[in-house]
Amino acid sequence: MTKDTKVRAAITAIEAYLPEYILTNDELSRMVDTSDEWIMTRVGIRERRILKEPGVGMSYMAIKAVKTLLEKNNLQPSDIDGIICSTVTPDMVFPSTAAIISDACGIKNGLSFDMQVGCAGFIHAFKTAALYIESGFCKRLIVVSGEKMSSIIDYTDRNTCPLFGDGAAAVLLEPCADGNGLQDAILRSDGIGKEYLHMKAGGSIKPATHETVDAREHFVYQDGKNVFKWAVSKMSEVSLEIMDRNGLNPNEIYFLPHQANMRIIEAVGNRMGMRSDRVLVNIDNRANTSSATIPILLWDNKHLFLKGDNLVLSSFGAGFAWGSIYLKWAVDNMK
Ligand code: UT7
Repeated sequence: MTKDTKVRAAITAIEAYLPEYILTNDELSRMVDTSDEWIMTRVGIRERRILKEPGVGMSYMAIKAVKTLLEKNNLQPSDIDGIICSTVTPDMVFPSTAAIISDACGIKNGLSFDMQVGCAGFIHAFKTAALYIESGFCKRLIVVSGEKMSSIIDYTDRNTCPLFGDGAAAVLLEPCADGNGLQDAILRSDGIGKEYLHMKAGGSIKPATHETVDAREHFVYQDGKNVFKWAVSKMSEVSLEIMDRNGLNPNEIYFLPHQANMRIIEAVGNRMGMRSDRVLVNIDNRANTSSATIPILLWDNKHLFLKGDNLVLSSFGAGFAWGSIYLKWAVDNMK
């Protein structure tokens, strides 16, 4: 058998930053008409982290994640060829938050740009970074996904305020020629999602005015029931497709799904024929951190993974945009 020496992009380091403040279901129950019981049974979230430091944006968390990643792995900023940041909550409309993070971390010799693909941002950014690495254009890239969801959540709306949390996570991607790393990706979209998941104002159609602020139009709007149905159907579809075309069986993969609702996670896992201990979950204490969800889930579980392990990551969110990626873990005992 010939040895597989194709150059692939592999995660060689990972770091996350979660804000200290814990917003519990009990505290939320004092803010809106909800209860711990409703949130736990309908969604599966017990608590979420919220960035409370005044005057800081999403980059505050992403910078901490990237700096720690560099320090722990004895890397200099000059070793990095660029930063791709996925987010729906950039510090500002422009410049890109990637540029702000690069500047704060001293990364001066590389590309920096943001990608906005809703909750599916990380898997899209990962595939994009992998193409740069596989082509030889870049050697070491950081993909950082971060969200300050609390900046776009209406804490008077019980339909959305229990669902989201803040956080950031960064992965280092490097070329790998031992058969591990990113194996396959399926990325899809359908613009029908605009109707069900959007922010009404603040973009160029409806710039901010006193009226848009008064009408509370700068917050997440979600038709949860429709998003739920699409999320179950599409995450299952692409995850089954990627398993099928790579000859994977459910017993030999870890499945890392987007963490929006425990009932979605279970429904997708069931459709894929997964054993529950192979479906990784952190929704109870992280909630939905939009595009940061998957890398935070990876970081929370990195102790489980050994070199050569098969991981399928899948996400679904605004757009709609969704997808699955299949990777072989490349490092034993990641720090
Ligand atoms: O990350 C992007 C992708 N997002 C998702 O995948 C989210 C998908 N959607 C969901 O996870 C769920 O649809 C929600 C968690 C958003 C809502 O759960 P649901 O089971 O679909 O509830 P619902 O919206 O149908 O509401 C059922 C009832 C309603 O009351 P009535 O009209 O039946 O009297 C709601 O007003 O539950 C009520 N409700 C609540 N009650 C207590 C809605 N939110 C709350 C709440 N506490 N926080």
